[in-house]
Amino acid sequence: MREFGEEQTIFDDMDVLNPNKGYRPRELPEREMELDELHSALRPATLGSTPLNVFVYGPTGQGKTAAINLKTHQLQSFADDQGIDVTVVNVKCKGLDKSYHLLTHLVKELRGPGAELPKGHQKKALFQMVTTELRRIGGTIIVILDEIDAIGDDDYVLYELPRLELDDVRLSIIGITNDLQFRENLNADVRSSLGEDEIEFSPYNANQLRAILARRAAKGLKNTEFVERAAENSRPTVSTNGIDGKVLVSDVLEPDVIPLAAAFAAADSGDARQAIKLLFRACRLADDAGEQSVTEQHVRDARDYIERRAVERGIHSLPTHAKIALMAVTYYTVRDDVTWIETNKLYDYHKQICAQYGVESLSDRRYREKLNNLSHSNILKKKTTGRGQGKGVTNRYSLAVGIETAIENLPSSEDRLGGGADVIRDMA
Ligand SMILES: Nc1ncnc2c1ncn2[C@@H]1O[C@H](COP(=O)(O)OP(=O)(O)OP(=O)(O)O)[C@@H](O)[C@H]1O
Ligand SMILES: [Mg+2]
Repeated sequence: MREFGEEQTIFDDMDVLNPNKGYRPRELPEREMELDELHSALRPATLGSTPLNVFVYGPTGQGKTAAINLKTHQLQSFADDQGIDVTVVNVKCKGLDKSYHLLTHLVKELRGPGAELPKGHQKKALFQMVTTELRRIGGTIIVILDEIDAIGDDDYVLYELPRLELDDVRLSIIGITNDLQFRENLNADVRSSLGEDEIEFSPYNANQLRAILARRAAKGLKNTEFVERAAENSRPTVSTNGIDGKVLVSDVLEPDVIPLAAAFAAADSGDARQAIKLLFRACRLADDAGEQSVTEQHVRDARDYIERRAVERGIHSLPTHAKIALMAVTYYTVRDDVTWIETNKLYDYHKQICAQYGVESLSDRRYREKLNNLSHSNILKKKTTGRGQGKGVTNRYSLAVGIETAIENLPSSEDRLGGGADVIRDMA
């Protein structure tokens, strides 16, 4: 591990590669078509008319937020230059699961920097405040409701907002979601008024992810830049997915790094956020170890690391009965040094632990359901075998995660089930 302040590093600007740091790309060539559609929906704002309401959807990490931010920024600066009255307001709806919450945040955003969340008002009164603020601001107002699916089926705002008719206000709503089910379930009236235009963001392929990673790498890493194709010979080319026929050369990335990270992410869900995370982790692994270059092995290690962390988080957030089920499988795996354990045995353990900790025990059938759920979340594996002709089948379970991972992440000594977990740790 490098010391604090040690200046040797492969990073030029770490924040560019950190997907949690809000770096905003200024170009999204992979989304040219979607940006054009958006452009067309918003253009009326520059012509004295009302921009269209737009519903934007597509899976996570597909550049929806990035594209809407980019286009509305472009519109805003154009309008500012030309003296056109355009205001863009952005509400992040994550966690706002009631129209009431959404309205309080909308009021706050409309009131501008420094405003507080209004407290202690009814939905109707809040909606009235929204109307007052919209009138005060006037002109063209674009309200972005990002991650709008948070609102669930409480669609009061989504129904009322697009219906507002205010003098001297031209209002447009942009709703964004990665939840296709939400879109399907929207009330038909809401969907048709909100989705005057609908823009779909479909998953990136490996080639597009390479280009996205190449541009990030050029901004975030030292000695990594785009050059004319003719100049590439003198330095290692790490991506040919350049802009305007340029190629990326780098002294800190080995040639396979970007293609491999892009391939991993593409095989999974084509999520750009995931691809960037993977590249960032690989670079950090190399940099922390004091190495001068990032290799294919760093990418593989980064993937393992991210997967392991996801599993760990998964285990920590399991509800009590699921935790007991995981403890049961771990217990027999360690005690008997076997891989597959029969449901009956696991149920005995369940009853014993429940009695010991005063947890209400489950029926045999409900317990089997819990085990089955764990196998769906890739924490346990399930194997079904016949017991011989006419004798039905039996299910066996084993750990789908490493035994160390399971043991390390069982409840710690201070936690509620910690004693039971300590027994397992002592045996191991
Ligand atoms: N075409 C692209 N070029 C460069 N960076 C991109 C591109 N698409 C996405 N990104 C980056 O990938 C990350 C995820 O993008 P974004 O947040 O826009 O996804 P999203 O579709 O809004 O996902 P979610 O549904 O989870 O909100 C961001 O860091 C963004 O800057
Ligand atoms: Mg988003």
